[in-house]
Order: sequence, then structure tokens, then C-alpha cells
Amino acid sequence: TGQVVETDVLIVGSGPAGSSAALFLSTHGIPNIMITKYRWTANTPRAHITNQRTMEVLRDAGIEDQVLREASPHEMMGDTVYCESVAGREIGRRPTWGTRPDRRADYELASPAMPCDIPQTMLEPILVENATKRGTQTQFSTEYLSHVQDEDGVSVRVLNRLSGHEYTIRAKYLIGADGARSKVAADIELPMEGEMDIAGSMNITFKADLSQYVAHRPSILYWVFHPGSNIGGIGAGLIRMVRPWNEWLTVWGYDINGPAPELDEEEAVRIVRNLVGIPDLEVEITGYSLWGNNEQWATHLQKGRVFCAGDAIHKHPPSHGLGSNTSIQDAYNLAWKIAAVLKWNAGPELLETYSAERAPIAKQIVNRANQSSRDYTPIFEALGVADAKDDDEFTEKLQLRYENSPEGAARRERLRDALDFKDYEFNAQGTEIGHFYASDATVTDGAQRPEPTQDPMLHHQKSTFPGLRLPHAWLGDEKEKFSTHDIAKGTQFTLFTGITGQAWADAAQTVAAELGVALETVVVGDGCAVQDLYGDWMRQREVEEDGAILVRPDKHIAWRSMSVPEDPERELVRVLGRILDRP
Ligand code: FDA
Repeated sequence: TGQVVETDVLIVGSGPAGSSAALFLSTHGIPNIMITKYRWTANTPRAHITNQRTMEVLRDAGIEDQVLREASPHEMMGDTVYCESVAGREIGRRPTWGTRPDRRADYELASPAMPCDIPQTMLEPILVENATKRGTQTQFSTEYLSHVQDEDGVSVRVLNRLSGHEYTIRAKYLIGADGARSKVAADIELPMEGEMDIAGSMNITFKADLSQYVAHRPSILYWVFHPGSNIGGIGAGLIRMVRPWNEWLTVWGYDINGPAPELDEEEAVRIVRNLVGIPDLEVEITGYSLWGNNEQWATHLQKGRVFCAGDAIHKHPPSHGLGSNTSIQDAYNLAWKIAAVLKWNAGPELLETYSAERAPIAKQIVNRANQSSRDYTPIFEALGVADAKDDDEFTEKLQLRYENSPEGAARRERLRDALDFKDYEFNAQGTEIGHFYASDATVTDGAQRPEPTQDPMLHHQKSTFPGLRLPHAWLGDEKEKFSTHDIAKGTQFTLFTGITGQAWADAAQTVAAELGVALETVVVGDGCAVQDLYGDWMRQREVEEDGAILVRPDKHIAWRSMSVPEDPERELVRVLGRILDRP
């Protein structure tokens, strides 16, 4: 009943997945409405670690600077501490998130953007603001109720929670970015694997000035090995920086098979004081909640004109900081495909590649985040406290690592190995930016992806093999320096070639006009508008100077040609036709 509101894309949810989907679609010029149940964005800090891939994506959307202005910078992120309590004895440290000198080089070489730390309460408003400025109709206090889809679109029933008024929004596509308990995912019956609520955790946010305990070893994470810290939770007790150095979040576990703990302000203060290690710490508790650790992912992400993204398709603990990052990257993958259908007449098969490309990532990151929690067990074992029968024994056994004996020496070595093994959570650049897409939205002509020569979780290996992310190299002219990622803009396909590949540029211009697709050629070379200032591109492109690398709007390689063929125009029509599912 009542008037039907029309749009191209309706997005349910204004979390990282929904608000970034809205931002990317609006950047593509696609009309969209974003509805969200509550009157504002996230009300607790939640996700914070923002990895290089996400920063690249935000850079492409033109908001990297705005995010960096609000974020804690990279240098402040990484002296990760393992301790008995924040003010108590230290167990060890490890530089993380690419702050170790040898790894810093890897991070700087791989991307024009470094990781940073921005709490979700600060990132979401930036995403919503920019999406709305660029055209998104943002509707707060509006709840998704149900939908029906037909051949031409989706009719969605929504409720204005202020007035109680129900109405219909008619969209060509619907994106369910409505979080871990997604109703949209349930309504399209997305197939899920794994389990929910496998361990119990609690979050407590608090204010206390801890500068004197942390400023000399700045980190966003202080891991606490305190009696009880190996029960439930995310691997160990955690004091996490929200704002340096007076706003914090504690994550503490509980046994999910027992009765739920009674968490009140007094208990929250007790837990915080224990983990900080100051019995009379002056602390203001600003919030607390219980939550379940999940290990569940969707194996297919869409049905017809309805798609899900974010926690709706991957549910996992915060370990490794993959939640919000992966959600934003889902949206980045989906947005250009929807835009390509609406603007460039791409066929529906292109949309199917969303599942083909992102479902394997959903599974991978859910497993990875849970494994990161499990990887604390060897630390408890090395400390000798894993089988402590009570708190006193736990505390007593924490002394074992000081023992002046061959056993003590062996224990210290084992402990160091266990701490360093956490690189799979904290220095795992490969996991964060090494995504590979094998789908019909890339063309390999039958070639196989080269085997990585280093551990692909820890290390990112650059290559222009189709399906991989565009390698970053600094290019420029006499005045400016810019990344390959800066010139391959997110609203177009980009074809990289060299001076002897000029024929590609002419061919691309004809093909772009013929197909009505945004396709820009970048000729990199001496005397051109874009120069290979450091020779980095020449060393990384893996094709001859007259070869070509076709980059998708999401900066994954679509296809490459080792040299210029006789008829480059025909090649481009063949390749783009396949990728865009055009006759
Ligand atoms: P998200 O859950 O953020 O957003 C869902 C959106 O959908 C909300 O805007 C909601 O209002 C809306 N919505 C839901 N149902 C609706 C309906 N029927 N109609 C309309 N709107 C609806 N991650 C991490 O990396 N590090 C961390 O420390 C933490 N900590 C943390 C703590 C707590 C308490 C939670 C709940 C989560 C975390 N996370 C986290 C996870 C991280 O917050 C999560 O991965 C991202 O927020 C996922 O983003 P989404 O946009 O997918 O969902």
C-alpha cells in the first residue's frame, strides 16, 4: 500500500559493508538508497585495524586523507606487547602490522597506502558522510522487513521506525549488508557452513590514562596472560587501544558452556583493574556487552538480484582485524559489477562472479581469524600454565620462564617461537592484500597462476597474472609522483602499455566507443605523461614493453598480453566481451 519509492540499488545496513557499498555506488554515479535500523552508525568502537588493501580502496574513493586525519597512524600501531598485565611484567614484544624494519620494506613496496587504526565509530560516519554527499539517500531508523524479486527488480518492504509507516522500495538490485544476523541472507536462504557461538567473549570499553605504561611501547594491542585468560574469548586477555592513551577496550573470555557471567559495572571494573594490573586504577566504564565467537561463512553470496556482503556472509572473531576490512572489500568487488551492468550494459554473468570471487575469501578469513585465536595455545603451553588447576597455580607457573636450568632455557626458546608464530596474525601481509580471483571476470587463456615462492599468508608476492591485484609501483612526471593504483581509477578499466605498445591505445579508444565502456589507456614511458621514474614498473609488469595489462575497476588484473598482436582491437573486444558477459 502507499507510494512506491524507486531506486537502482537498495542497501540494507550502514556498517562498513553497507556504507562503503553506498559510497562506491555513488562514486560510480549509480542511484542508491541506504536504509539502516538505528538512528546513527555503530555505537561501540568494534573494528579498528584498517589494512593496506582497505586503505587503497579508500584512497581510490578519495577519502584516504580524511581517514588518516582521524586515525592513529601506522607508527603507533605496532609494538605489540605480551604481558602478565599492562602495568605488570612483560613476557615479550613483537613489532606488528609491518612496523618491523625488514617487514616495513615489504609494506612500503607493496602499496601506496599504509595500515592505520581507526575505530568503527569514527570510520562509519566518514563513509556515510561521503556516500550521502555523492548522492546516496540515507534513511536512518528504517528497517528492512521482507522482499520479493521478479525478472526486472526487487520490491522491498521497509518500516519507518519513527512513524510506524511501512512502505515499498522498488530497486533493480538489493544488497543485504545487515550484519551477522542478516535477515536478507536468511530470506534468500544463503547456504552457510561452520558454527555460531563457539566461545564466549565480553567487551568492556573504558577510559583511563595509561600513558605511563604504554607510551614507550606504543601498540594497539596489549595481550594479557592472566589467570583465566585461556578460557573462551579470543585466545588471551586483551587491552586494546581505542584512542591513545586514554580510551580502551578489553576483550575477556568466558566458558560458553557454563552459565552466562553476570556482567555489571562492578564486575567490569574488577576485570579491567586485573588486566591493567593496578588494583585501584581510576577507571570510567563506558560500556560492556557479551558476545559469541563465530566460525561461519556463506558458500554462495547471492540469489538473482539480491546480494549479501560483510558479516552477513562471514562471521568470525576480531582476531587479525579482518571483519570491517573484508566487508569493505566485498562491497568494492560488488559495486563495480553492478555499475558495469547498469552503465556499460554488462550481462548478468558478471554479477555471478561476485560469489565466485568473494565466497572463497569469506571462508579463508573466517578460518584464519579463528586459527589466530587458537594460536595462543602454544604460548600458554610454553609458559607452562596451560594445565594450571587454579589461579594460584597459574600465577606461580608464570615464574617458570625465569628458571636458571636447561629446562628454563628450552622453555624460553619455545616461548619465543610461539610469540613469533603470531606473525600469521600480525604480520600477515599476504592474507591482507594477496587476494586472488579465479572467475569468468578474468581471462587467463588457460595459463596457470605461478606458484608463490614464499609463504603466501605472510608475504605478498607481486605479479600481473590475471586475477591478482595490480602491483603497486611509483610512477610520475617531473612534478608529481603517483601509484599505478592512482592512475587505474576505480570507475574505469585501465590498459597499461609502453611506448612500443601505442597501437593498444588506438585500439582501446575504438573499443571503448564501440562498447560504451570506460576504458583508458596509460602509456608508461620516457617523455610520456606517465613515466617509470624508478624503473619499478618495468621490473614488475612481466610483459614486454609493447604488451598490455588490462586492469578492472577494482584494480585486479583482468587480462594481460605479452606483446602487441596483429589485431589488438579484436583482442580487446574478445576479452572485454567475455569479462562483461556481452554478446
Ligand atoms: P555491521 O554489523 O557493522 O552492520 C550491520 C548494519 O545493518 C547496521 O547498520 C545495522 O543497523 C543494520 N541492520 C541490521 N538489520 C537491519 C534491518 N533489518 N534493517 C535495516 N538495517 C539493519 N571486528 C574487528 O575487526 N575488530 C574488533 O575489535 C571487532 N569488535 C567487535 C565488537 C562487537 C561488539 C561487534 C558486534 C563486532 C566487532 N567486530 C570487530 C566485527 C566488525 O564490527 C564487523 O566485522 C563489521 O562491523 C561488519 O560490517 P557489516 O557492515 O557487515 O555489519
